[in-house]
Amino acid sequence: MTDPDPIALEPRTVAASRTEMNELVFPQHTNAYGSVFGGQVMWWIDMCAGICAQRHCSRVVVTASVDDLVFESPLRVGECVHLVSRVNAAFRTSVEVEVTVEGEDLATRERRPCVQARMTFVALDDDGKPREVPGLLLQTDEERARAAAAAERRRGRLTRRR
Ligand SMILES: CC(C)(COP(=O)(O)OP(=O)(O)OC[C@H]1O[C@@H](n2cnc3c(N)ncnc32)[C@H](O)[C@@H]1OP(=O)(O)O)[C@@H](O)C(=O)NCCC(=O)NCCS
Repeated sequence: MTDPDPIALEPRTVAASRTEMNELVFPQHTNAYGSVFGGQVMWWIDMCAGICAQRHCSRVVVTASVDDLVFESPLRVGECVHLVSRVNAAFRTSVEVEVTVEGEDLATRERRPCVQARMTFVALDDDGKPREVPGLLLQTDEERARAAAAAERRRGRLTRRR
């Protein structure tokens, strides 16, 4: 079926949907050891990635899958949690979004890597059915390499799904 709004499917740059979020860690975010609950970090990741995906698609999206999450270092009370999400690749009705999470010491402004996540979102039409997404304009070698790696990961996900 031809899309009734072809302009909505015009390719978009990675930069157009890049999303940054900052959160401050409070005691209610932490476990008995003083580090942030994994589920809290996942919530922030889901928000940051979901905003990025919806910016790219200009549509409601749902989470189809979340790849492995590796927690490299703990986040502590008083730290700033800095999240950046970007679209790695756009497929037919889905996009892969990558989120990097860093902990920032607000006194020194030093940042260290904490978590990296990749999620797949599917755009839905008004009836809740998967709907085509705009293409991704790849402008640099790094963006082309990320898109190629994302396509490879997608093949693996869909094989596992079957
Ligand atoms: C995700 C969902 C919409 C897929 O619906 P479906 O009827 O299986 O649709 P299709 O098989 O046509 O696949 C649609 C897209 O999802 C992708 N997809 C489906 N399962 C996937 C998975 N496990 N991992 C990655 N992508 C997946 C497909 O590759 C396809 O993308 P493409 O068109 O870019 O190739 C459906 O399974 C769903 O609604 N799941 C629940 C979502 C949810 O509640 N999320 C949490 C709250 S937001």
